Amino acid sequence: MTIPCFHKKSFQERLRIVRKRAGLTKREEEVLLRPDRFVKAADCMVENLLGVTPVPLGVATNFVVNGKERLVPMAIEECSVIAAASNGAKLALPEGFRAKSSGSVMIGQVQVVGAGRNAARDLLKAKDRLLSEANCRESTIVKLGGGAKDAQVRVLENGHVVVHLLVDVLDSMGANSVNSMVERIAPLVQDISGGRVRSRIVSNLAVERLCTASAVWRKEALLESFHGEAKGSAEEIVDAILDVYEFALYDPFRAATHNKGIMNGIDAVALATGNDWRAVEAGAHAFAAISGRYMPLTKYWKDDVGDLYGEASLPLPLATIGKSISANPSAMAALKIMGVASSAELSETAACVGLAQNLAALRVLATEGIQKGHMKLYARKACPPARKNRA
Ligand code: MEV
Repeated sequence: MTIPCFHKKSFQERLRIVRKRAGLTKREEEVLLRPDRFVKAADCMVENLLGVTPVPLGVATNFVVNGKERLVPMAIEECSVIAAASNGAKLALPEGFRAKSSGSVMIGQVQVVGAGRNAARDLLKAKDRLLSEANCRESTIVKLGGGAKDAQVRVLENGHVVVHLLVDVLDSMGANSVNSMVERIAPLVQDISGGRVRSRIVSNLAVERLCTASAVWRKEALLESFHGEAKGSAEEIVDAILDVYEFALYDPFRAATHNKGIMNGIDAVALATGNDWRAVEAGAHAFAAISGRYMPLTKYWKDDVGDLYGEASLPLPLATIGKSISANPSAMAALKIMGVASSAELSETAACVGLAQNLAALRVLATEGIQKGHMKLYARKACPPARKNRA
């Protein structure tokens, strides 16, 4: 959502604007400001609760995703991430981002050791039995049209046989449903394979839940963003950004940092909306290495008029429903601020944030360097000096 000079407004003014735009109730606004209200719910979520830890919650502006303006709540302690995302998104205006997702299918794995020679063939033949066993209990996901949809079998180099159960988890993250299903089919898998079932759990390499976001950054917009202080022409800025991108393509040391920048944005959205950001992180980095070599999660090239085309593609199992989301009033308020109606919309928007974040980082790395912007933000915020913890 584009709100002119949002970052220059006072805290109260920013809150008023967001409350009005998102239609937040007084209560929803309060939960953003009073994390201690969450203590009772938190005590039901984890063991040995001592309190709740505040993480700054900000909102990124300028996001237009598939033609729709969105405010994007981000929970993160790192200075300049929200500013960078908003800036990367602003430079892609007025068109903004295109985003799509491949569906909401998670993979559950059943590992079999010591299986018979024909185990893979026999398991595949029994696919329908496996699916009906997985879906047999009346789970909410099955009632709503989701559930196990397919089964695949892999044989690993060490001879272990692995059954993949493909489960449509709809708008949930799905780990619990998938784990229940793979545990349920395990005895049948053991019978059919003639081996012993060991591990039965969801895979975080969610390749059936991929999101792709793309945008075009006009070279003139990139040049103008330096307000007359750019050292080169628009074409040179695009070329310099492509050079920095190419560095990540050829060097895993750089690719790790490149992808860390992308995940700065995506994790912050995941955390703000009560999602399992560790699952997202694990899947993203495994996906980055899926070719056998660790690669950047984004791609860039020059289009036929010399503008910069960028694309981010990664597994994004972000949920809009689930116990840890509905128990967390601030996550519910964040989803309302974002105005997303489904897991697909949330994940697609998060992918756009990752791409915007990455473009913003490449833009400064290719030109003035990262520290100038950081220092400007520190100065503006007048952050207190770091203090030592007294033991
Ligand atoms: C810092 O948290 C993230 C960056 O290092 C990302 C990058 O280098 O691409 C700025």
